Amino acid sequence: MEINWVSVVCPWKVFQLHVLPLLFLLVLLRCSSPCQCVVDLDPDDKALLLAFKSRVQDPSQSLSSWVGTNCTSWSGLTCENRTGRVVSINLTNMNLSGKVLPKLCKLSFLEDMNLSHNNFTCPIPLCFGNLVSLKAIDLSHNRFLGVVPDTLMRLRNLKELVLNGNRDLRGLVPGWLGNFSTNLEKLDLASNSFCGEIPESLLYLKPLKYLDLGNNNLSGNLRDFGQSLLVLNLGSNQFSGTLPCLSASAQSLNILNMANNSIVGGIPTCVASLQALTHLNLSFNHLKYAISPRLVFSENLLVLDLSNNDLLGPLPHKIAETTDKSGLVLLDLSHNQFSGEIPLRITELKSLQALFLSHNLLTGEIPARIGNLTYLQVIDLSHNLLSELDALDSLKILDLSNNMISGFSPWLRTNSMEIYPIGYSHLKKSKQ
Ligand SMILES: *[C@@H]1O[C@H](CO)[C@@H](O)[C@H](O)[C@H]1NC(C)=O
Ligand SMILES: *[C@@H]1O[C@H](CO)[C@@H](O)[C@H](O)[C@H]1NC(C)=O
Ligand SMILES: *[C@@H]1O[C@H](CO)[C@@H](O)[C@H](O)[C@H]1NC(C)=O
Ligand SMILES: *[C@@H]1O[C@H](CO)[C@@H](O)[C@H](O)[C@H]1NC(C)=O
Ligand SMILES: *[C@@H]1O[C@H](CO)[C@@H](O)[C@H](O)[C@H]1NC(C)=O
Ligand SMILES: *[C@@H]1O[C@H](CO)[C@@H](O)[C@H](O)[C@H]1NC(C)=O
Ligand SMILES: *[C@@H]1O[C@H](CO)[C@@H](O)[C@H](O)[C@H]1NC(C)=O
Ligand SMILES: *[C@@H]1O[C@H](CO)[C@@H](O)[C@H](O)[C@H]1NC(C)=O
Ligand SMILES: *[C@@H]1O[C@H](CO)[C@@H](O)[C@H](O)[C@H]1NC(C)=O
Ligand SMILES: *[C@@H]1O[C@H](CO)[C@@H](O)[C@H](O)[C@H]1NC(C)=O
Ligand SMILES: *[C@@H]1O[C@H](CO)[C@@H](O)[C@H](O)[C@H]1NC(C)=O
Repeated sequence: MEINWVSVVCPWKVFQLHVLPLLFLLVLLRCSSPCQCVVDLDPDDKALLLAFKSRVQDPSQSLSSWVGTNCTSWSGLTCENRTGRVVSINLTNMNLSGKVLPKLCKLSFLEDMNLSHNNFTCPIPLCFGNLVSLKAIDLSHNRFLGVVPDTLMRLRNLKELVLNGNRDLRGLVPGWLGNFSTNLEKLDLASNSFCGEIPESLLYLKPLKYLDLGNNNLSGNLRDFGQSLLVLNLGSNQFSGTLPCLSASAQSLNILNMANNSIVGGIPTCVASLQALTHLNLSFNHLKYAISPRLVFSENLLVLDLSNNDLLGPLPHKIAETTDKSGLVLLDLSHNQFSGEIPLRITELKSLQALFLSHNLLTGEIPARIGNLTYLQVIDLSHNLLSELDALDSLKILDLSNNMISGFSPWLRTNSMEIYPIGYSHLKKSKQ
């Protein structure tokens, strides 16, 4: 027979071991019962929200649930359990408009504010700077206008500032964005009308992980970033200078978009050290020279777009170190001045779905093995000096027009499918 040593030696431990967990369980059960989750909205916050509701334009009746005191039933609201103070307001995609946002400035416990995808047409209210508990603010895809007010620098707990898609938001990217909060991880100012240079302070903002300044009117020489980023989008601006190495992000950077700027020089071999890269877009710049044979891209790469530059020399014969591990899905090297033959190694990239090599100076034969790329759906080899065609069974769409291919008729039928000679721009549109 087993002896319960605990109860023999010190009986009080029995209480600790058996009764306490039971009590704990009871407490847990009580807490997770639905009745405990009824939160009565704080009366002050409720008054503010009703004032907001009475003035906001809400043609879709999105706020019709804003009645009574049960916070849980008010759409878009989250209240703190015990106090009933509003901690989160999420009014995304409700088609709201009007000049009523200052009504929200006294929700002083607010930690999250999401007003994205509405139709607010006004400057960003200065009094948003009073909401000092805010951790995330998302005003994206509205019609906010003017500049980012300096009062927002009082939001010292902010982790996410998302203002993209407000075409009339303009002016400089404020320098204080680099030091007002020690927690800022995400800054999204894309698709606005900001001009000027990237403030230096942003280059050193340690916690920053996600920086999207794409599709603005920013300029200046590209500089290196000192923090380890996951996402960096500077595409569709007017940046100049050469590509920085981004070595502080060597182990972290997933997405790098610097497309559609005025970047000059060659592609530095240090790009090879960006080991976490999945998406690299350097298209529509003025990159030139041959790609160094030592530049082997990350094995994590899914999308590589170097199109519309002045790159020359042979196509990179090694995109990744081993073709086995490479998961490359899209490769666009079109609109450059690459010459020589299509390297056989490209036909070993097993996951490839789209291959754009058009508008180069490629010669020689189209490797028959290209037809063995199981997932390949789109291939554009047009506007080259290629000379032969073979084994295309798995290709769904083919653009080989303007090549010197013997015996090629514009509508090619193989045993498995029809192959259409479709123009390059059309293919690009169907692939995002
Ligand atoms: C949004 O509101 C406008 C009027 O302000 C209305 O014409 C439009 O149909 C609404 N859209 C949706 C999706 O409710
Ligand atoms: C409060 O609202 C929630 C969600 O609508 C509902 O599940 C709950 O039963 C309501 N509580 C009371 C007391 O009405
Ligand atoms: C409310 O309490 C539940 C259970 O105790 C917890 O999971 C939840 O995070 C709390 N919500 C807030 C807003 O504090
Ligand atoms: C915000 O609201 C939208 C639409 O109601 C919903 O899809 C989304 O999950 C909500 N987000 C959060 C963080 O609650
Ligand atoms: C936004 O509001 C304007 C009027 O201010 C209206 O003409 C337009 O249809 C609205 N857009 C949407 C998407 O609701
Ligand atoms: C705001 O809501 C949208 C839609 O639910 C979501 O995609 C976005 O991540 C939210 N923003 C923040 C900062 O949480
Ligand atoms: C940010 O930096 C500026 C100038 O470098 C300085 O004047 C300001 O006090 C700093 N702000 C914070 C919050 O540290
Ligand atoms: C972009 O900035 C340049 C100067 O750098 C200016 O000439 C141009 O008008 C701006 N474009 C827009 C659309 O603001
Ligand atoms: C390049 O950026 C300009 C604005 O700077 C934009 O108008 C144009 O559509 C962009 N081109 C591409 C191919 O993205
Ligand atoms: C790369 O950026 C260009 C310019 O903005 C864009 O047109 C193209 O679709 C992007 N490439 C990929 C593969 O997303
Ligand atoms: C295509 O694959 C099949 C089956 O793996 C193989 O027999 C054939 O030789 C390959 N064709 C070429 C041109 O490599």
